[in-house]
Amino acid sequence: MKQLKIDQYSLANYYNNLFVTAVNDIKLDNRYREFTNISRNAKLGPKAFDHVNNQEVTLWCINDYLGMGQNENAIKIANYFNSLMGVGSGGTRNIGGSHHEILKLENSLSDLHRKESSLIFTSGFVANESAISTLIKIIPDCVIFSDQLNHSSIVEGIKKKPTIKEIFKHQDLHDLEQKLQKYPHSTHKIIIFESVYSMNGSITDIKKICDLADKYNAITYLDEVHAVGIYGKRGGGISEVQNVAERITVIQGTLAKAYGVIGGYISASADLINAVRLNAPGFIFTTSLPPAIIAAAAHNIEYLKNSDFERNKLFENVYLLKKALKEANINFLQNDSHMVPIIIGDPILAKSISEILLKKYKIFVQHINYPTVAKGTERLRITPTPMHDENMIRYLVESLKNAFIELGCV
Ligand SMILES: Cc1ncc(COP(=O)(O)O)c(C=O)c1O
Repeated sequence: MKQLKIDQYSLANYYNNLFVTAVNDIKLDNRYREFTNISRNAKLGPKAFDHVNNQEVTLWCINDYLGMGQNENAIKIANYFNSLMGVGSGGTRNIGGSHHEILKLENSLSDLHRKESSLIFTSGFVANESAISTLIKIIPDCVIFSDQLNHSSIVEGIKKKPTIKEIFKHQDLHDLEQKLQKYPHSTHKIIIFESVYSMNGSITDIKKICDLADKYNAITYLDEVHAVGIYGKRGGGISEVQNVAERITVIQGTLAKAYGVIGGYISASADLINAVRLNAPGFIFTTSLPPAIIAAAAHNIEYLKNSDFERNKLFENVYLLKKALKEANINFLQNDSHMVPIIIGDPILAKSISEILLKKYKIFVQHINYPTVAKGTERLRITPTPMHDENMIRYLVESLKNAFIELGCV
């Protein structure tokens, strides 16, 4: 009996050492991540309470790009549905029943993207991973053409099934075409790309990719996660701005960023959506989102189909921030989107700048390291919102300048 205990102890220790080693490897690589422990306040816009330093801070790195997570009507609707229907959905959609609110939201998304049908997943990540791996399963011998900077959820979806993968240089149409040319016209092909790349803010010329898809017999899968709600007259994303939504086979998006809630989706033809619905384990075998979440997201989507106010205010602030950074001689990546990335190029320096901003200036800008971005391109990614104002922008730029001076990087 005593012997058994010792064995169990050493076995547990042996496994535990594997976990310690995994963490140490990350520490040695200067990639150890610590959470910033905050509480947001729905009445205080971009302000939050920082529990570590016991202070109120201004958030400059959230993906609630339009502040819709704090929309008063969305909160009221979520509260109403919570008290009416309870806080959970009660199961998967096939077994526990498919809530009426989800069907309404799917119709609203189909209308947003001018597609026949839509399917909601528990997150944008799950939508990409499940839909892409399921398409690869359904379409025989298909070759995947994926932009080099595609998000991890896309990469995981592609990796899940054995298939030929061609990774083309970021937004490089020439490289994409060269790769497409390698395969016979009849080979099944999917081109997967994003409309707004969140880490550098670059916007894709979707029409040109659709032209290549037509020429080489490919279908297209477009991730609009960082664009829906923000771009287009009705918030339909870059595909709406460029007037090409109907040329895209699958549009994927999230309810978690500009729509301020949580969940992900795909919109496409009724037959494609039905095939994914019946084949995707990431859809079939998981509990659906609660009605309150769905109703709040549906409110925000419909609201943003009709209101430009938040979008206009966001872009006003983006303009003011970029202008103030230029005047202060702080370099940032030029782009036509709402992202403001400042390349630091070193993980320790990026972390130190974030720490100074938080502790000294009560500003939260998360530093972004590998594997989210390539090594040597570590950065701060600032995301203005309509909730910020001119004083906050001025103070942010002054604080950044001071932090750079303190660390000797100007
Ligand atoms: C391009 C892209 N696609 C998908 C996702 C996942 O979306 P969600 O946060 O809804 O899981 C992200 C998350 O940031 C993303 O950047």
